[in-house]
Amino acid sequence: MQKMLISTPIYYVNDAPHLGHAYTTFIADMLKKHHSLRAKEVFFLTGTDEHGQKIALSANKHGLSPLEYATKISQVFRDEWDFLKIDYDHFVRTTDKAHEQAVQHAFDFMLQKGDIYKGIYEGDYCVSCESFATNSTICPDCNRPTTKVAEESYFFRLSAYQDKLLDFYEKHPNAILPLSRRNEVVSFIKQGLYDLSITRTSFSWGIALPKHLNEPRHVVYVWLDALLNYVSSLGYGTDNAKMGHFNHALHIVGKDILRFHAIYWVAFLMSLELPLFKQLCVHGWWTIEGVKMSKSIGNVLNAKDLASIYGIEALRYFLLREAPLGQDGDFSAQALVRRFNADLSNTLGNLIQRLFGLLKPFGGKLESTHTLEFYAPLYAEWQAQLESLEPYLCDLQLHRYLEELWRVFEACNATIAKEQPWALAKTNPQKAMALLSLIATFLAKSAFYLYPVLPESTAKLAKWLHVSLTSENFKAFMQKDFLLPALELAPIEALYPKLDEAQATPQESPKDPPKEDHTIQFEDFTKLDIQVGTIIKAERVAKSDKLLCLKIDFGGRVRQILSGIAKHYTPESLEGKQVCALVNLPPRKMLGLVSEGMVLSASDAGGLKLITPFSTAENGAKIG
Ligand code: MSP
Repeated sequence: MQKMLISTPIYYVNDAPHLGHAYTTFIADMLKKHHSLRAKEVFFLTGTDEHGQKIALSANKHGLSPLEYATKISQVFRDEWDFLKIDYDHFVRTTDKAHEQAVQHAFDFMLQKGDIYKGIYEGDYCVSCESFATNSTICPDCNRPTTKVAEESYFFRLSAYQDKLLDFYEKHPNAILPLSRRNEVVSFIKQGLYDLSITRTSFSWGIALPKHLNEPRHVVYVWLDALLNYVSSLGYGTDNAKMGHFNHALHIVGKDILRFHAIYWVAFLMSLELPLFKQLCVHGWWTIEGVKMSKSIGNVLNAKDLASIYGIEALRYFLLREAPLGQDGDFSAQALVRRFNADLSNTLGNLIQRLFGLLKPFGGKLESTHTLEFYAPLYAEWQAQLESLEPYLCDLQLHRYLEELWRVFEACNATIAKEQPWALAKTNPQKAMALLSLIATFLAKSAFYLYPVLPESTAKLAKWLHVSLTSENFKAFMQKDFLLPALELAPIEALYPKLDEAQATPQESPKDPPKEDHTIQFEDFTKLDIQVGTIIKAERVAKSDKLLCLKIDFGGRVRQILSGIAKHYTPESLEGKQVCALVNLPPRKMLGLVSEGMVLSASDAGGLKLITPFSTAENGAKIG
């Protein structure tokens, strides 16, 4: 089995994870799932970058030691990936002993080879990017002011690798994707490379140099330390290294750290006489409604929060589908909801439900005896469409990959509309069954392409179709004449229930001053979406004596609503009861929990009473 390494960058622990980090990690997770289904043995690596001046300063600000602070934030990253169901194989911390030893081993190797020498670094340094900016008071990457540095330092002979680097990119034109990024790197190298300072003496939060050098003031430059995670995690420098995975390494990085990977990392690998990566996949940045995410603007979005509101798969699908991988993308909740409803609810979700509905006259039983007799040309067309997907994925055009996959679902829906199998079931049942089996077969084949993007729902779809998503089955299912065997399909839950558009609409602050009287227009009233729902779960909220966390079924859509009724109702007394709630308020977070609406109640001298319909109403029934 071919071994492979797929990596994300290791994330700085100066701050909590945000949407951009989740994006990189989703891409890596998707690629792991894809390549595993193609029978590759993938090692998916992620982790945290914990040394350097930036982290030391952040820790100090929080009154913690750098290690305490790094440990705390590193755990936040792990929790985030667990919540988002990221299936990584190893989480490296650059403070791990094994990593530190590997870095010292590599330092020694380069030193003995003559690639490292001692000198004085005089120049400018950007703490935010942890990069040396030659003769520049402003960092060319992040535009923040740099600081003057003059310190004794060990240098790596980067200049000696200039021609070797150019030669590598000449011989491997696809080593960096998208191609525009490769061209950027090549012109940068052609301008000439300076030797790189790889130790620092002005602070101590870093990996010590090998003991025999007796240089207690020096610590390893954070980028040399960090980049080596890609091999230290495979056991580099030890007897039981699993370096086989590194023969086919795929690094996913954001555009801001292209140079560190495309130049420094390749030169370090050459110096260490290790194989060079197969591909560096460079993605763009997410902005929020057109604005760069930044703490000072206060628009930093966290993936876990978004996934709690819209669902992990809605977020994952949106990020992978919306923007071409190499370009910047703009995030907005409305765009996410619109895309989810159009692609997942209306196109794919509907198709699945229609298939089930159309099989009802046949007692849910599917069989493929006459499929090719009636639909061989359509079969061939859809098969060719699925076969055309792979190159998009190899070129990392994930948005195109998904667009083309969706053409199959759109074609299935269009064929149902055209052939009207509900009518055919009466006049030509063989043909109706042939069409349903064709569609079920292509849903089964598509599941192998869909799984990497929507793992949870695709697993349910596959189970429904009695398909097990293994690499052996992928080969068998993609045969040109494969048809699903006879099977009986049980009812399937709605996999992609529509998201509420109103929920994602930004609320404008009122421009007019409040009116003297308190009457409202009828249109104002119609804006309120008040619905009946049944409480299916009620729990106390930790650290609050007022709040209960309610899970309420509004007819296919279960919402979590926090309500300040804990002093008036016990959780046990509420389960199974119907209530009325305002459901189109923007989601709000309280004590770390998202609340998606407001339960209505009346208060009087006797206390608080929940409002409930006079007699049982359907969940989701509108109040007006
Ligand atoms: N620690 C270094 C990487 C060392 S790898 C050997 C680092 N860490 S980071 O936490 O600052 O960034 C990690 C990744 O997140 C980068 O790939 C970066 O591009 C990505 N993103 C940070 N903000 C982003 C967006 N707004 N949008 C998309 N990704 C962005 O750099």
